[in-house]
Amino acid sequence: MDVRSLVRGLPKAELHLHLEGSLEPEMLMRLATRNRVEIPFRSVEEIRAAYRFTELQDFLDIYYQGMNVLRVEEDFYDLTTAYLERAAADGTVHVEVFYDPQGHTTRGVPFSTATDGILAALDDGREKLGITSLLILCILRHLSEDEGFATFREAEPWIADRRIAGLGLDSTEKGHPPGKFQRLFAAAREAGLKLVAHAGEEGPASYVADAVDLLGVDRIDHGNRALEDPVLVRRLSDMGIALTVCPLSNLRLRGVTSLERHPLKRMLDAGLKATVNSDDPSYFGGYLLDNFVAVAEALDLDRPELSTLVRNSIEGSFLDASTRQVHLDRIDRAVAAHG
Ligand code: HPA
Ligand code: ZN
Repeated sequence: MDVRSLVRGLPKAELHLHLEGSLEPEMLMRLATRNRVEIPFRSVEEIRAAYRFTELQDFLDIYYQGMNVLRVEEDFYDLTTAYLERAAADGTVHVEVFYDPQGHTTRGVPFSTATDGILAALDDGREKLGITSLLILCILRHLSEDEGFATFREAEPWIADRRIAGLGLDSTEKGHPPGKFQRLFAAAREAGLKLVAHAGEEGPASYVADAVDLLGVDRIDHGNRALEDPVLVRRLSDMGIALTVCPLSNLRLRGVTSLERHPLKRMLDAGLKATVNSDDPSYFGGYLLDNFVAVAEALDLDRPELSTLVRNSIEGSFLDASTRQVHLDRIDRAVAAHG
């Protein structure tokens, strides 16, 4: 079975993608020159060589350093457009993307610069590439809840216009449990936002339970360590909560020692609504299809399992029910035709 051609031909959604994590070394160099930003690298090769991580924090240090070249709206537009073009080439029809406004406002780049640059590219991607999209504002969990609230307040005009569709929680997980942001997530729900949170990437299963019980999230980002708690697994499966799993990210940040040991198949066997995603593709060595191919080969996933993963990406999305059904029907027809 040619996994790449099978999965490329199926309409898919990507639900866990940090736009700043799609900053390729070539673009980083180009924007550094364009904006006259000093960087500690002289070549694309030197940048790639620096992408060696032993855990999440290692990666985050380089990720925050990399985003320093993003200065004006056009930079955010170019970054987002480059990602959408890659997504279109992979046969992705819908994306729900994250950005980290606090990673920009804390270094003096206005909230509107990042947000409007990204939104302009998402609009053009819809027109020119036929990719639908939603934007999810992520709160940095290593900062305080008050700082999160300040960012949420800044976002209010875009939230009122439905231009920002969701609130997420990312950055350093250990030591920053979901409960730290309980009031903020309650306010976001009140404002009509969809809610997601990174949980169980490095943090314990209890953080996944807290994201569901204390924050009321609609979806869990990663969720790998939920498998350590069978009662929680049963609850997540009964509730139909999607997990946005990122195989190559888990490998590079050493959440798993090899893809052969990746929990994705166990998640599916347990009835969890697992999806495949790329997280920070420029840092972790692959976009969406690369993640599908790598994990399918390592775990020997069969056609029904791949089809379930793709269906889960649509079912786990925040698309309306009728649009979801259109994509699901196309998946069923394409899988039947491919067989
Ligand atoms: N985990 C937590 N925070 C992040 C990640 C991630 O994988 N990528 C970007 N910010
Ligand atoms: Zn992530």
